This record gives sequence, structure tokens and C-alpha cells, in this order.
Amino acid sequence: MTVKSVHAREVLDSRGYPTVEAEVVLSNGTVGWALVPSGASIGTHEALELRDGDAERWEGKGVLEAVHNINDHIASALRGMDADVRKVDERLRELDGTTNKSRLGANALLAVSLATARAVAYAKGIPLYRFLAEVGSVHTSPLLPTPMVNIISGGLHAGGNLDMQDFLVIPFGASSFRQALEWVGKVYHTVKRILQERGLTTLLADEGGFSPPLTGHEEALRLLCEAMERAKLRPGDDMGIAVDVASTHFYRDGRYTLRTEGRIMDADEMVALIADWCNRYPVLSVEDGCAEDDWQGWQNLTQRLGGKVQLLGDDLFATNPQRIRQGVAMGVANAVLIKLNQIGTLTETLDGMALCRRWGYATVVSARSGDTEDPFIADLAVGMAAGQIKIGSVARSERTAKYNRLLRLEERLGNEAKYAGRTPFAR
Ligand code: PGA
Ligand code: ZN
Repeated sequence: MTVKSVHAREVLDSRGYPTVEAEVVLSNGTVGWALVPSGASIGTHEALELRDGDAERWEGKGVLEAVHNINDHIASALRGMDADVRKVDERLRELDGTTNKSRLGANALLAVSLATARAVAYAKGIPLYRFLAEVGSVHTSPLLPTPMVNIISGGLHAGGNLDMQDFLVIPFGASSFRQALEWVGKVYHTVKRILQERGLTTLLADEGGFSPPLTGHEEALRLLCEAMERAKLRPGDDMGIAVDVASTHFYRDGRYTLRTEGRIMDADEMVALIADWCNRYPVLSVEDGCAEDDWQGWQNLTQRLGGKVQLLGDDLFATNPQRIRQGVAMGVANAVLIKLNQIGTLTETLDGMALCRRWGYATVVSARSGDTEDPFIADLAVGMAAGQIKIGSVARSERTAKYNRLLRLEERLGNEAKYAGRTPFAR
């Protein structure tokens, strides 16, 4: 089986900006497709998303150059090649030739990489999640991930209400993925009711979470606990809380600035704030509690809390095997956020996940704040038995495309379906 043709076009993402869609056709006629997502709180160690920069089109965010790179360079280089995803990814990296995929664009590379994987899975007649497990050399059974679901949004995903980015819930006590979503739905709609009662806005942010102006960040934690209790779910026993601090985006020159609270902290104070929250609320997971290059802060954070809370690195690791290795060597964090477009090819992502497994770091497969109807990451999480997934809230179709794919997979797996449930450090 070989690659017959590759074609790309510019389409739209959930924020109303262009993104890349690719189609790969194999010699036997099977077609694979993929759309790439796009972040707002982008770390400096991520692979480069190529944007045209032409202010006349889509405020400079057009992706015609990335599309052209696929149609005019990648397509001819791949034509006739063995349809082997490892070889295709290797060829894509070679063609680009840079460490951060800045020549052809990580958005161009990833679209082709994922579309090829889908085409090959179809050609083999196996579900995508099974194929991904094969390529990633995962020999355990498929696993429905525990979702970490955004309820309150702030930071770069909302309109200036809070500095921190996500306040999420983790329905670890549910007995199935379907029940987990149902529990989250109760909390989501209860939060909406509470906000209405208080006369606060229920408008949705980029990931479908609410973005009310609160008196401070801690109020978001109180709000989640109140909603759980009203929904008859026990905070800390049925459901936990996760926070994506996304602190890289309010860190400068050694200072963490919570503008909405008029508060400026050094790394020690930041760590103390997080530790205090973990003591007083059922916080099970803290993402990017320190900034992407504040290794010292991360070490303090990990020494202080690494034994009792999931410390998740997003901007810190950028799904980059090299940075994950460095983190492990320095004893920093204990979990890794996995975003395909941070590294730019499928197989590098799978290899990063394998490293995490070997070193005992938990993995959380993640969508981006600008996403699409492509549910690829649902299969990635299930096949690779990642354990956790972070898609955004339970509203908006680019989010529900993934949740609904997970519901279908759970149903199809029947007796084989197993829900991950308890996350690290859950009671
Ligand atoms: P992003 O946000 O897609 O805007 O980077 C997601 C996250 O920070 O986890
Ligand atoms: Zn994050």
C-alpha cells in the first residue's frame, strides 16, 4: 500500500479563524482526513504554527502558506511512498528540516500526519484507537479516559474576568464514561443556575465554560464545590477539582501577577497559594502552576506537593520528548499534558506518551482552545490508555465531537469497555 495523493485546504476552527484540513488517499482508494487545532495560550517551546501574516485576510491568521506547503511540496514528496505512518512522519520531519517545524509549519505537518494515520487504519479495517495503540506499542486494553472538564474559564480564553485559565472538575468516582459525563452535566447546569441567581453572566468562553467576573480565583473553587453539593455529588469523594493556572501567561521577570486581584507574587508565594488551595479544597490536579521556564519554581512546587497532587506540565513540556526527559531528570512535575500540535507529528506524540509511561508520569490528552469537529484525540486517549482527557466543557460542537466519539467507543467496546475513574491522588 502506498500514498496516492495528498491534498489540503483552508477551513475554519471554533474561534472563527482558519486552520488546515488535509486528505490523504492511498493506492487502494481509502481516504484519511484530519483538521488541526490551534491554541491561544501558546508556549514558546511549541512547534511553530505557520500563519500567513497577511493583515488583509483573517487578521493575518490565514494558513494558505501551510496549505501551499502541503499541496506543492509535501504531496509530491510523499506520492508513491510506503503508507507507513512512522516513515511518513520521518519524511515530513526531513522535508521541514528545522527543530520547531517552522519551515513548512507544524500545522501542515500534523494535518498530513494524522490524515495518513486515519487512511492506514481504514485500509487495515481496524478502528483508529486500535491502530494508534499498535503504532504506539501499547499492549494494554483500550481505556475510556477520565475527563477533566472545564466549567469556569479565565485567562486568554475569556474576557478578562480571571487571570488563571481553567477551573475544571474530575468525575473520578463514576463507574462509566457515560455516567462521568452525566455528573459533569449536573455540575455545569447547576453552575449556570447559581450564576443566574447571582445576576452574573452565563456567556461562554472559548472552550464552552462560563466566564463570570468573580471576586477572586478562590471563588471559582467555592462555586464548583457548591454546585457539586447542590447536584448531590460529594466534593473529593465523587468528584475532584483541577486548575489550569496557565501561569506562563502572567509571569514576567520572576513575578506572577494576578491582575484581577491586584496581587503580585514570587514563585514561593505562588507555590504557597497553590498548596493552601490543595489543603482547603479537593484539588487533585494543578496544571502549569509555574511558568514554562521557571524550573526552580517547578522544583519547589514538586517538592512541596508532588506527593499528593497531580502536577501537570503543559507549556513546561510542550509534548516534547526532550523537555519531558529534562523534567524527569530534574524531578519536576508528575504528569504531562499531551497536545498533538505542540510537537507536530503523531509518532513523536506517541513516543512522548511512551516515555511518560516508562517513567511513571501520568498523561492527559488535550484539545486546544481553538479546535475543530475532528475527534482524533478521543481515539488517541482510548487506544494509548492515557487515563485522562481534557477537551474543554460539555458544550459547543468542537468539544462534543470528542465526547460523543468517546460515548460511541464505550458503547462499541461493550464488555471490554473500562472507565479509568480514579486519577492519581484521588481518594
Ligand atoms: P490553549 O489552552 O489551547 O489556548 O493553549 C489549553 C491549555 O492551556 O491547556
Ligand atoms: Zn494548559
